[in-house]
Amino acid sequence: MSMNSKADATRPQSETMDGIYRFQRHIYDVTRRYYLLGRDDLLAGLAVPAGGSVLEIGCGTGRNLVGVARRFPSAKLFGLDISEEMLKSAGSAMVRHDCLNRTRLACADATDFSAQDLFGQPTFDRVFFSYTLSMIPNWQLAVENALNCLGPGGQLHVVDFGQGDGLPKTFRRGLFAWLRIFHVSPRDQLASHSRHLAATKAMVFSHKSRFRDYTWQIKITKVT
Ligand SMILES: C[S@@+](CC[C@H](N)C(=O)[O-])C[C@H]1O[C@@H](n2cnc3c(N)ncnc32)[C@H](O)[C@@H]1O
Repeated sequence: MSMNSKADATRPQSETMDGIYRFQRHIYDVTRRYYLLGRDDLLAGLAVPAGGSVLEIGCGTGRNLVGVARRFPSAKLFGLDISEEMLKSAGSAMVRHDCLNRTRLACADATDFSAQDLFGQPTFDRVFFSYTLSMIPNWQLAVENALNCLGPGGQLHVVDFGQGDGLPKTFRRGLFAWLRIFHVSPRDQLASHSRHLAATKAMVFSHKSRFRDYTWQIKITKVT
């Protein structure tokens, strides 16, 4: 595992994220288990080719990368996050789960990074966002950057909050208000914008709404 740093250009949001996660990272995995739905379905659907590379953008505590390591024993793991605090937890998780020798972590902003500079390779077989785009102000740019990180046959997977259209109205209002406290904004344009971006790049797009529209899952495949 190596750890790069890229703090200056990202200071404002990195400070916000470090502020939220400095203490929460210690209870993050336990507390998020029951409401960040669909994460394990995303991991199971990655279908990483043998020896393939997987980048999680906004890897947080490393919980998902550990899950990738378990499911795909020959996968090479890459994680980036804007929060140095979260990366401390991710680094420890990789050590604890014995994934250290096939993991590289870096501190960077999803809207402004070079995978070549951070990891020594420009593209990956699988790239994914898990409950991260709802925290990135310029999420559209983050999606575009992620698509540019796909090698031939590569896939971008996203799981995040949906619009909750099937939920009781008061529950939905309460949920969205509570999420705002944590700087989380479900992106109503996430599916339509991603579909549009995929079309401009001749990529194949799919979108699933689950759990009464609580969760959205998106997959974009670069065919060649
Ligand atoms: C809700 S957590 C999700 C963590 C992990 N993906 C999961 O599913 O448990 C969102 C993560 O995105 C990171 N993040 C927020 N904005 C970011 C950005 N602009 N670039 C990279 N990471 C960012 C946060 O620091 C945090 O670790």
